[in-house]
Parts: sequence; structure tokens; C-alpha cells
Amino acid sequence: MFLGIDLGTSELKALLLTDQHQVLATARSPLQVQRPQALWAEQHPADWWLALQNVVDSLHAQQPQALARLQAIGLSGQMHGAVLLGARDQVLRPAMLWSDGRSAAQCEQINHHRPELVTLSGNLAMPGFTAPKLQWVREHEPAVFAQTRRVLLPKDWLRLMLTGEAVSDMSDASGTWWLDVGQRDWSDALLEATGLSRAKMPRLVEGSEIAGYLLPELSRRWRLPDRVAVAGGAGDNAASAVGMGLVQPGQGFVSLGTSGVVFLSSDRFEPHPSQGIHTFCHALPKRWHQMSVMLSAASAVTWATQVLGLAHEADLLAEAASLTEHERGDAPIFLPYLSGERSPHNNPQATGSWTGLRAQHTRAHLAYAVAEGVGFGLLDGLRTLSAQFNGRQSLSLVGGGSRNAWWAQLLADTLDVSLTVHQDSENAGAIGGARLAWLCTGAALDRVAITPPVLNRYLPNPASQTQLAARYPRFQERYRAMHQGHAAEHVAS
Ligand code: XUL
Repeated sequence: MFLGIDLGTSELKALLLTDQHQVLATARSPLQVQRPQALWAEQHPADWWLALQNVVDSLHAQQPQALARLQAIGLSGQMHGAVLLGARDQVLRPAMLWSDGRSAAQCEQINHHRPELVTLSGNLAMPGFTAPKLQWVREHEPAVFAQTRRVLLPKDWLRLMLTGEAVSDMSDASGTWWLDVGQRDWSDALLEATGLSRAKMPRLVEGSEIAGYLLPELSRRWRLPDRVAVAGGAGDNAASAVGMGLVQPGQGFVSLGTSGVVFLSSDRFEPHPSQGIHTFCHALPKRWHQMSVMLSAASAVTWATQVLGLAHEADLLAEAASLTEHERGDAPIFLPYLSGERSPHNNPQATGSWTGLRAQHTRAHLAYAVAEGVGFGLLDGLRTLSAQFNGRQSLSLVGGGSRNAWWAQLLADTLDVSLTVHQDSENAGAIGGARLAWLCTGAALDRVAITPPVLNRYLPNPASQTQLAARYPRFQERYRAMHQGHAAEHVAS
């Protein structure tokens, strides 16, 4: 019996997986993001811990006997967040999240003045990453920086609470920008660039290795066996890939979660730092992956659901689906940059908008534009990965958005890629966590990292593609116009 825990941005999810690939129980607990200032995105680690206790209680209520047979735990987590700890491992300030855009100036400094470091990392310094955030703290909150004894990623802070040990895995550590991703080790040069050293970093393990053991008092409190192993686990994207069995070169997925991701597995470190391509370690030894990351995907649909006064995201997508082909062609264009954008623009100042509004437009037009705009954002990302993606591969579709058939079809048409939804695709990260737990007990990869049964396949439909192909250049043009507008304002001020 394996427990997968996925610390997301909007919720913490957990599930119990058997060694027959059966999900016995799932539990979830919601999380909020605080935005105390423009561009900031924070959460309190204490809320993660409360959420974790809630889901363990819920799993207990559902499956007490299964938990009593638990062998290992695997963690998947929102990437890049900075948890700063003091001398007694106390949390020094709220965690700064992957969608936090405050450190643009620090990134600019690194990318322009230290290009050799970008080459070493294989990745541009981008505001979501951990290192520029620490540089921001160093400049703006020097007292906090001076007290910082350790920096941990979100799921690794949960691990510290679970095992008492500071450990990270290679995939999540890649997103700090302090890792030598090719060598799979901390880089002294990258750490030094933000005033840090190895002494402040957790120990590194592979995602499928044992990182530690559950603290005895927690085993007692949760009525679990003694010495439950905790695997290295992974950043949520690499974990999702393991969860859907996507570990061979060229296999990959599109994720419609809070963020939107196009992910491709690889067996080599081949960085292309331009255009915000992320080249990171995979969750398994000697494997890497590349991805493009947009900051507001399903979260743009959630936002529009709220501002348009609807109860559920499904209602918004149903309204969008009600438009005729002709009406779609006439809809406004939506830019989904509600939290700025990472790939391909690397621009935290980018903003969201509906443009081209007319008196005849209804809520359904606005809804359609949002679903379409998220797809266009993903297409921008997919195009940056064209050196790795030959267009013939089918990609898996994962994340909460994968449950909506209409949106999945629109996405297949937009990306011109066949998309496959596998069983448990909405829980891919938590399944991946549980599978990494299974692997850390010594199980064979080909037994564990299998592809789950196919639920649906969405093939691009040429009849709908003509219109999307005509609207995509308008979407790109609106971004350029907004960007030039911001640049002009900057010069004027
Ligand atoms: C990846 C990224 C997001 C978060 C979401 O680079 O920032 O996908 O991992 O949890």
C-alpha cells in the first residue's frame, strides 16, 4: 500500500494506491493563495500542514485497514516555492510561490550580466524560480535573509515535518535554479550568485530513492506501521509524468492545472534556455525533461467563472460550448496572463484582457474566449519545444481541466496534436507520488510506471482548425501590442 501526496496550489490531494494499480481512496483539502501586493503570490506553510492532516484523517475514515498496511509515502509538489527557515527550523516568512512575479529585476540582473550562469543552469533565471526570490529577499528583507539557515521547496518542507530531515529530489531541485541540472548536484557558482552555499541546501536524492522515514510520533498518531519510508518524490510535473507512465524519451503531456504545461521526457540534458524552455531532471535517475509553463491555465477558467457570476467551471465551459462555429469566429480575444507569463514570454508584467468587445457579445462569448486563450497560450509553449516534438506523438492530457471533453477537443484542435486522457489523469501528480513511493521499496520500473487505461482520445478535427488558425495570429498580435504599450509607458515614465 502506497500513499501519494500532491501539494498543489489550490488544494492538497492524497490517495492510496495498491500494488495492483488500484486507487483505494482519495482525499483533498483546499488551499488559498494570498496576494498582498501586485505580482506577489504567497501561502503559509502551516496551512499545508493542516491540509495534510485533514487528508490523512479523511483517508483514515475511508480505509483504516489499508493505512495500517502502508509501506511508503511519496510526495509531489507545486514547484519553485521558497520556504525560508531559521536556526530552529522555524518559518521566517510566508512561502513565495511559483506564480510570484516580484523578482523580475533580480532575474534581469542575472540573465544579462551573468550569461555563463544561464549556460551552467541550462535555464534562464525566471521570476517563478527559487533563486531570484532569495535574491529579492536579500535586497528587500535583509534581516530575514540574514536569519535564513535553510531554504526548502514546498513539498520538502512537508517532508521535514514528516521525517525531520531536510531532503530534496532532483526534479524539484532543478526548479530552484541552484542545481547543476546536467550533473545532478548543487552548483556552488549558482548558489554563490544569490549569496548562498550548499550548507543551506537540503541533501539530494533521486525521486525513486528513500529520502527518510516517517517520525515515530506521526506513525503512532496516524496508526501507521513503524518505519514507513518516504521517497524522494518529485516536482508536480515530473510526478505527473511518472503517474501517467511517461518516462521514455519523446513521451509527454499537456497539463491543464492551475498552471498549463507542455512536458516532454528525455534521456539527455540538452538545454535550450531561450524562450523560457525549462530543462530539468526527471524523477528517475539519468532522465531529464523539457517543458514550457504558462502561469494561468485552469486558473483563468476559475477566475472567469467567479467574475462572470457562475457557480462552477463546468458551467462556464458549457456556456462556451453553446456557441456556434460562426459565433466563435466573432468572439473577443482573451489574453490569459492573469499572473504574468513564463514560457515563452518570461514577462511578469504581462496582463490578462478581453479585447475586441462588441455590444452583441454575451457571457458565452467571453467564456469561449477564455477557453480558447488558454489553448493559444499552450500552443505558444508547444511551439518553443518544436525541436523535441515532431508533431506525430500523441500527448497525454492531465490535470483538472482534462475532465472536460469539450475543452479537451478544443485543445487538440488548437495544438494540432492527438490528446489522450488516461484513467486518473486529474490525479496524475498524486499517483506519481505514490508510484515513486512504490519504486523506493525496490519495485521494478516497468511494473510501476505503466500507462493507465485510456478513457478518451481527442483527434484534431480539421473542420474546426481553420477558424482557430485564423484567430491565433490575432492572439499573438494582441500580446505584442500589450507588450509594446507597456514598454512605451516605461519609457514615458
Ligand atoms: C512548473 C510550475 C508549475 C507548478 C505548479 O515550472 O511552475 O507547473 O509546478 O504547481
